[in-house]
Amino acid sequence: MAVASTSLASQLSAQFSGLRRSCPKLDHSHSHSLFQQVHSHIRLSSSRKGSRGVVSMAGTGKFFVGGNWKCNGTKESITKLVSDLNGAKLEADVDVVVAPPFIYIDQVKNTLTARIEISGQNSWVGKGGAFTGEISVEQLNDIGCKWVILGHSERRHIIGEDDQFIGKKAAYALSQGLGVIACVGEKLEERESGKTFDVCFQQLKAFADAVPSWENVVIAYEPVWAIGTGKVATPIQAQEVHVALRDWLRKNVSAEVASKTRIIYGGSVNGGNSAELAKQEDIDGFLVGGASLKGPEFATIVNSVTSKKVAA
Ligand code: PGA
Repeated sequence: MAVASTSLASQLSAQFSGLRRSCPKLDHSHSHSLFQQVHSHIRLSSSRKGSRGVVSMAGTGKFFVGGNWKCNGTKESITKLVSDLNGAKLEADVDVVVAPPFIYIDQVKNTLTARIEISGQNSWVGKGGAFTGEISVEQLNDIGCKWVILGHSERRHIIGEDDQFIGKKAAYALSQGLGVIACVGEKLEERESGKTFDVCFQQLKAFADAVPSWENVVIAYEPVWAIGTGKVATPIQAQEVHVALRDWLRKNVSAEVASKTRIIYGGSVNGGNSAELAKQEDIDGFLVGGASLKGPEFATIVNSVTSKKVAA
């Protein structure tokens, strides 16, 4: 995948987040206009390179779209969803993953096209054994999963998992060869009190402290107030946090990891808003809940990668 204007994007994003970092609160009016300036610079330089269509993104990873089916579905509804997904035309330059409820993974694995990979929605923190009700990483591997979602806000805030526990789970899953979709995101009151970056950085640091490598990790930024509420973050709100997360990785891990690690957005993504979100330079894909239960709509979201393609 060709990548346009990475160095300019990171140069500008460094300035951008440096400015925001010094603000105690997210100042939307200010960052908005600065953002637009930054964005038009990036677009302009991307479009100067000739006439070929390329995917223009700040990161260098392939676009990634995951469908988190959560605790939804029956054998019957999942049969229909799989058949819709099997019949959908999906753009080639996207990694596509679905996370069915554990008890339907085998059904999905046996019927879904190999074009789409399968993820667990959670995993136990270490090797399996006497842990009633848990599912181990070994079992996810055994049944053909390639990924696991960890740190989802519903597990953090409803089940009560903390940063360290989630970090340990990520390290264990990676050690056994599973890819990790590592979720971070602030609650509404945290955003309103200007703590968005603090919360996201703290959650990201817990992953960084635990994982030996970022090679198999996709970061999902999912503001809690946007999940399942129909209240999607604006493209600018999402981009602003994605830039900050990438910048955190650059400063605290390495420039290479910052560039290679996919940072995807989740929270009320649907077929109507995904194209605008996907245009943002630092949005490398999506984690989709409700809209991933409808095959054709999920396909539209996957195919929103086309809105990243600019003349280059
Ligand atoms: P939503 O869920 O798309 O239904 O808001 C997203 C998620 O929880 O991953």
